[in-house]
Amino acid sequence: MTTTLPRFEPFSPDVLTHPGGALAEGPLALGSAGYTVLSFELATAVLRDKRFQNAALKLMEDFGITDGPVHDFRSHSLLMADGPRHLRLRTPLARFMGPATVENIRGALREIIQNLAAGLDPFAPVDFHGDIDRRLPARVYCYLAGAPAEDAPKVASLSERTLSLLNRDPSLTPVILDAYEELFAYLEALVARKRAQGLGDDMLSFLIAQRDAGKLSEDELFNEATAMLEASSVNTTHQTGLVVWTLLRNREIWQRLVEDPALIPAAIVEVLRLYPRPGVISRIAAEDIELNGTVIPAGSDVHVAVWSANRDPARFENPTEFVLEREHNQPLTFSTGSHNCLGQGLARVEMEEVVSYLVRHFPNAVVVEDGTEIGQAGGRWLVKSLTVDLKA
Ligand code: HEM
Repeated sequence: MTTTLPRFEPFSPDVLTHPGGALAEGPLALGSAGYTVLSFELATAVLRDKRFQNAALKLMEDFGITDGPVHDFRSHSLLMADGPRHLRLRTPLARFMGPATVENIRGALREIIQNLAAGLDPFAPVDFHGDIDRRLPARVYCYLAGAPAEDAPKVASLSERTLSLLNRDPSLTPVILDAYEELFAYLEALVARKRAQGLGDDMLSFLIAQRDAGKLSEDELFNEATAMLEASSVNTTHQTGLVVWTLLRNREIWQRLVEDPALIPAAIVEVLRLYPRPGVISRIAAEDIELNGTVIPAGSDVHVAVWSANRDPARFENPTEFVLEREHNQPLTFSTGSHNCLGQGLARVEMEEVVSYLVRHFPNAVVVEDGTEIGQAGGRWLVKSLTVDLKA
């Protein structure tokens, strides 16, 4: 039954030159890194199929982290949990991160953006990446977690260093191990302070209360807190930069947002589709699994190429065009299935508020091309620099 599959390297430097969707030979390919899934339909099926397990632990092991506290954290983490345990760990936190919390944060978010933007020179090109999109998500995390705002640079750095595992660069292993050690110590001190000072209505207080009510063990409390901190800022930073870069360079769309800010959420979804920060979501086949007529042997690496699925012409008409009015517009940028991104409501609101701020205060803003570099690594879009002339 197994057919000969086309070759495909999902982490090759020029991978984003692939236009998106299935290859001529089909939606599944094989290469030195394992299998790659390229179509929207098959990608969705893999991400929703619990027989494909998260590859995050294996990635750590591949980079030499095979035991010790960092390995323990990952092996017990939300990403690796399945079935009833995953539901028990995820459901309360997902409820906490639901629309009520996200809408409550919106007011604080506006204030944080206002404060960060107050430092910008409205009459000269500004370092948008350094001053806004790199600083905002960590400030928001501090607000959400009930941490002091002064901790934000540390939070941003911890998120960036821990998730640098996804760069697939073995020379970063010592950096990653140090970052997790620092992160564990930081959260231990923060949780101890909260316990001593009394709980509030923030996310860490919520997790501590869950622990006090016997719904989480002490290890689970720290594990969830760690997962939220590592995920808190680096992806939102790059995705926010990609949003601003795309929208400001598309003047026709930008003008429509200036005239009708209610279109901003749909515009953000379209950027998430075209320029997804998480280019590849990796899985491992837990058993032999038949996929599109091919038997994937147990233990195989299966890489879901998000950027390709998001530009699949079989799912999105004129996939490379920016279309505000798409009917089935949701991409796979926040994944799908039981492990879909738990912070996506928050991340969407952060991006909405940044765009809304620019639209209201700086409708003539433009990207300064020679101070801007958008890159890609292993299928992931990233912002190296983003300079904006606010043209107040
Ligand atoms: C634009 C920004 C973001 C993007 C593109 C993004 C993307 C993703 C993706 C693709 C996954 C699935 C990973 C996998 O299955 O291997 C995920 C999971 C997750 N994300 Fe996000 N994320 C973003 C922001 C956030 C934020 C702000 C938080 C929290 C404050 C967060 C918390 C999480 C958590 C806890 C999970 C694990 C969920 C589970 O396994 O049940 N993310 N995210």
